Amino acid sequence: MAKDFNRDKNIIILGIESSCDDTSAAVIRDGYLLSNVIANQKVHEAYGGVVPELASRAHQQNIVPVVDFALKQAQIDRREISAIAFTRGPGLIGSLLVGVTFAKAMALALNIPVIDVNHMKGHVFAHFIREPGDTRPLPQFPFLHLTVSGGHTQIVLVRDVFDLEVLGETIDDAAGEAFDKSAKIMGLGYPGGPVIDKLAQQGNPDAFHFPMPKVQGLNFSFSGLKTSFLYLVRDKLKQDPQFIEKNKADLAASLQKTIIDFLLAKLRRAVRETGIKRVAIGGGVAANSELRRRLAQIGEKYGWTVYIPPRKFTTDNAAMIAIIGYYKYLRGEFASQDIAPIARWKL
Ligand code: KG4
Ligand code: ZN
Repeated sequence: MAKDFNRDKNIIILGIESSCDDTSAAVIRDGYLLSNVIANQKVHEAYGGVVPELASRAHQQNIVPVVDFALKQAQIDRREISAIAFTRGPGLIGSLLVGVTFAKAMALALNIPVIDVNHMKGHVFAHFIREPGDTRPLPQFPFLHLTVSGGHTQIVLVRDVFDLEVLGETIDDAAGEAFDKSAKIMGLGYPGGPVIDKLAQQGNPDAFHFPMPKVQGLNFSFSGLKTSFLYLVRDKLKQDPQFIEKNKADLAASLQKTIIDFLLAKLRRAVRETGIKRVAIGGGVAANSELRRRLAQIGEKYGWTVYIPPRKFTTDNAAMIAIIGYYKYLRGEFASQDIAPIARWKL
């Protein structure tokens, strides 16, 4: 058997993610995940969305214990770390600042390099996180990646680890926002995606009809869908104040179906236009049960090779940051200690 040349080098990367409302730290040794600790912030639930100022304060409270726990779980002493990879952006500037500052300070104290990572690239490369004993096949290049999260919706052509091209993206809201904002209209709390996913399992996806968003090429748009959802609920509530309560599951299933139909229609178009039949998904919305099921089904129908990552690597996590840190380390691509976070950062 061919020897995996990356093994036995003992390259240990500590990854740090703090771009939105999850504080996460992960340890990867020679490409294999040893730990991935995530602290969610419950504080936003009451507001129906992330409150930036509260998010950065919570990151400040969480970052030390989260990093400490990740190292303990990985049974790694901080002096063994080769480099620290951190999310530089895109994201909430106050949240990013906590992770970036922490990573730089810790690296300075340990006299090791820092590596900056683009969060969106992290979602794509979540597929390359290996766990000891893992037999999941890694995506082969080139492949198409549908990134669907709370802040972004993109179709990315991935030619190689360092060669990515965005073929299309949302012109307004992200797919995750369509879930979150509709859940908020129904009074379901934040984040709405997982709640809608669960409710939809008991609902009829054809109970309500929402017009499919119309947008050119491989781009997406979700703000119109949110508005038609709002108008439907508002009008029906006038006739029956119990409308939401009585139709929660059907509303969830119908909304979810429209979002998924739209995402998959664009993916089919991307496959047609590029001729690439290897298709992967990532980002928080890729945790959605129905999207996972339908993608697998459509893949079988059209003869695509489909890559669906484990759920724990779809929502924000530091393992996806650490794996890119590992690839950049192998290429000697380090950042300087002067580096600052950036809220908007293209792939
Ligand atoms: O990738 P992520 O953790 O954070 C961002 O980078 O935005 O994605 C969060 C988004 C939220 O909008 C959340 O509602 C959505 O992912 N989400 C889901 C599910 N789990 C999380 N959406 C639909 N179904 C789910 N099961
Ligand atoms: Zn994300």
